Amino acid sequence: MTDSPTAGTPYGTLPPASPLPQRRPVSLPRLAQMREAGEKITMLTAYDATFAAVADAAGVECILVGDSLGMVCQGLPSTVGVTLEHMAYHTASVARGLHRVQGTAWLIADLPYGSYAESREQALRSACQLMQAGAHMVKLEGGGWTAPTVQFLVERGVPVCAHLGLTPQTVHALGGYRVQGKGDQAAQQLRRQALELQDAGAAMLVLEMVPTPLARDLTQALPRCHTIGIGAGSGTAGQVLVMHDMLGINLGKNPKFVHDFMRDAGSVRGAIEAYVQAVKQGRFPDDAQHAWN
Ligand code: KIV
Repeated sequence: MTDSPTAGTPYGTLPPASPLPQRRPVSLPRLAQMREAGEKITMLTAYDATFAAVADAAGVECILVGDSLGMVCQGLPSTVGVTLEHMAYHTASVARGLHRVQGTAWLIADLPYGSYAESREQALRSACQLMQAGAHMVKLEGGGWTAPTVQFLVERGVPVCAHLGLTPQTVHALGGYRVQGKGDQAAQQLRRQALELQDAGAAMLVLEMVPTPLARDLTQALPRCHTIGIGAGSGTAGQVLVMHDMLGINLGKNPKFVHDFMRDAGSVRGAIEAYVQAVKQGRFPDDAQHAWN
């Protein structure tokens, strides 16, 4: 018996660590360098140790423990039922998986519904719980009222990723999963909120289901805040997908911004490697197919 952490168990042995040259931990300065060099940032969700380790080994730079785990892992109808305890549990599982394979990915965890809206202090307490579970950064949804909260967290050493456009935690207020930022007024509001979030110190911004030209314009307007698109076209600094969607293993119909990378791959790792390559080479997303223009 070796002292390998997975020795002695027949279940869920993790993949070997990423090849040495890739083992440079992803950090905020490294993400800024990638952006500067014009290299696209790849992000994928993961909710457990094994899939996180596979994504890391496949070269994904950022792993998001998304509250989409409500639908993907828990069978909930939306993300609204996900609690801070659920998020801390899955974040700790992912962090352990990455640690066991000497993973290098930057780990982001979603602050769930109801865990940051009450006050900046509540947001800090919730963020601390996720950081202590192993996250490097927390993500929160919405613009306007969130900017002072982002500033409060960033000033206290918590890196923040913001999230604008379709914000699933407010799906009931938005009236459904619809494209956001359409029309001059809505686009201007989104632009104003994005600039406020950058000024507040958000280092990343997920843009979900917004028209391609708007996402491209925001990316140019936000040099210090890396835009990560999902259904936002090819002009963002990086891309994110829900892992189970891009592996084609969900039960429903995928939204149009998803590509099933498993279809032409022989393995989960192969599918994730194909996603990474497609994003880096500008082949995914295809604006004619996966975006709103
Ligand atoms: O919860 C999640 O997985 C997300 C992504 C869709 C960006 O927020």
